[in-house]
Amino acid sequence: MTATAGCCSTTPLMWARPRAASTPSGGRCRAYAPAVAVAAFHPDVSRAAESLHAEFRAVDRALALNSSRVAAAFRRARVAPHHFGGSTGYGHDDGGGREALDSVFAEIVGAEAAIVRPQFFSGTHAIACALFALLRPGHELLAVAGPPYDTLEEVIGIRGLANMQNPNCMVMVDNCYGEFVETSEPAVVGADLIAGSLIKNPGGTIAPCGGYVAGKKHLVEAAAARLSAPGLGVEFGSTPGHVMRALFQGLFLAPQMVGEAIKVGS
Ligand SMILES: Cc1ncc(COP(=O)(O)O)c(C=O)c1O
Repeated sequence: MTATAGCCSTTPLMWARPRAASTPSGGRCRAYAPAVAVAAFHPDVSRAAESLHAEFRAVDRALALNSSRVAAAFRRARVAPHHFGGSTGYGHDDGGGREALDSVFAEIVGAEAAIVRPQFFSGTHAIACALFALLRPGHELLAVAGPPYDTLEEVIGIRGLANMQNPNCMVMVDNCYGEFVETSEPAVVGADLIAGSLIKNPGGTIAPCGGYVAGKKHLVEAAAARLSAPGLGVEFGSTPGHVMRALFQGLFLAPQMVGEAIKVGS
């Protein structure tokens, strides 16, 4: 923010309380004018930001690529205000938002299909539906990136890790906090199914609730059957109020929010 030239200070300001100031003619200036010019950042923060310049450039590059991928998917699905309306009851009166959101999301993560719903309570709920879509009695679950977190232990039984050389393996990725961190997503490099939470990265800090499962179409349908009921699938479920709009908005802004979060954590 820069104060009005010829009226108040032209020092770039970051934090300034609104305060009336006198002009040379004795009149009152309406511009924001702090008594003391404030530096944009604390010197330590400025120094740290400068030392991280290369890292921040890399984050900005990923952010730009991810944002343009998201915008392209929105354009291709012709996302428009009629998609944002709420629905009630069974959700048969949905204005196409549910379908558009699913197809936009699938394209963004490089999957055949996706189900993105506020009815997923959380990431764990979406992951549980994905696991139920994949696993049958007698199947073996390998946790290749370390033991699953505590709350998943109720969903699965933990066995010892084994060598993962079996081509019949199906790969399911817990993508919570992974979305938009890189410039591609696990489905692009072969994951059969991914799952995550809209109250994390892909909700862009705006989605109030929800989760997603994305990947091979038949597996997404199987996960949808766990979310709803066998036979009901993905063409069901109302989204009351303004939630649908928030899901679209959050997804659109998600690359930006994730990029900023990475910078802050650097
Ligand atoms: C990697 C990972 N997976 C899954 C979850 C569980 O998600 P939720 O708390 O939405 O159930 C978390 C939560 O922080 C997480 O960090």
